[in-house]
Amino acid sequence: GAQFVTPMTLAARSEAEVYTSLWDLKNETEMGHIQLSREADLIVVCPATADLMAKMAAGIADDLATTLLLATDTQVMAVPAMNVRMWDHAATQRNVSQLRDDGVIVLDPDEGPMACGEYGEGRLPEPDAIFAEIEHWLGSSTQDRAHPLAGKHVVITAGPTREPIDPVRYIANRSSGRQGYAIAGALARLGANVSLISGPVALETPRGVNRIDVETALGMEAAVDAALPADVAILVAAVADWRAEASPRKIKKGETGGPPDLNLIENPDILAGLSRSDKRPELLIGFAAETDKVVGHAKAKLDRKGCDWIIANDVSGDVMGGAENSVHIITEAGVESWEQMPKSDVARKLAERIADVLA
Ligand code: C5P
Repeated sequence: GAQFVTPMTLAARSEAEVYTSLWDLKNETEMGHIQLSREADLIVVCPATADLMAKMAAGIADDLATTLLLATDTQVMAVPAMNVRMWDHAATQRNVSQLRDDGVIVLDPDEGPMACGEYGEGRLPEPDAIFAEIEHWLGSSTQDRAHPLAGKHVVITAGPTREPIDPVRYIANRSSGRQGYAIAGALARLGANVSLISGPVALETPRGVNRIDVETALGMEAAVDAALPADVAILVAAVADWRAEASPRKIKKGETGGPPDLNLIENPDILAGLSRSDKRPELLIGFAAETDKVVGHAKAKLDRKGCDWIIANDVSGDVMGGAENSVHIITEAGVESWEQMPKSDVARKLAERIADVLA
């Protein structure tokens, strides 16, 4: 930046001190980088280059700006500006998505002619537009703006269930839990008190989320019941429809004279049960994984299960266990289809939608 506009010019125009180096001892005694990072109400990174956002996403702190950004607990807003190809690059898009996941506000760049002569998305938004975003964020009380779901309790189920056949074998499914975990994290970032009832998955618990581990559908049902009352329940888990009448000891090959008969018993439908219960949350959301006639089947499910929204996704591709999802939001009012996007973006949009509805 100092090569485009000198620090002297900025200091004179803003009548403020300009800090440029982590190793500037004078600044470190007067105002250390830790203190710098704590005194602000909002930290705006403008322009946010592809390089700087990559460092932020990776948690690299190798100069004053990146050290301050890693040391802060203040809201950060990034205003991207770069060449269109750099903006479109998978690495940049991955970093932007990670930053949004981490709670950074990343504004969308403008589209238009660029300094390098190319045309496209990546231009720095107009100063007035950036200023409006900053004002908007600072305008409402910081607490309300950052935590619109403060005081709300959300129960989420996620992951598969594991239904034992005997002490060593079980029936399960391909659910990774990623979408449910992303939603739990996104809601916690908006200030909600989140109870995440999780089947067996290989995922880190999102920050600020209260996780309760279960194995079976019956265990999940009991844990959901114990977590109530809630303002919102989002049942994302891929609950096994059937459980086996489990043998208390390992079934030996040959002992049954051929393959054993699995006596299957229907599991309770946690979602349908909750919608009929007197503890029904104000907002009840179900998921539907379909491989065909996605919207049609999901609409029928909305009625059958008695929930307020169904989030339907097409799992004929590699959605289960994958990083991206393409969903349809089905409510009484109709169907809204979202383009394919990372599961973290689906989670963020959904959390914002929930906050809007509860407000
Ligand atoms: O009927 P289907 O399994 O397709 O419905 C999916 C929705 O119902 C999901 O929200 C899932 O979490 C929920 N469900 C449930 N209990 C079951 C089966 C599904 O809560 N036994």
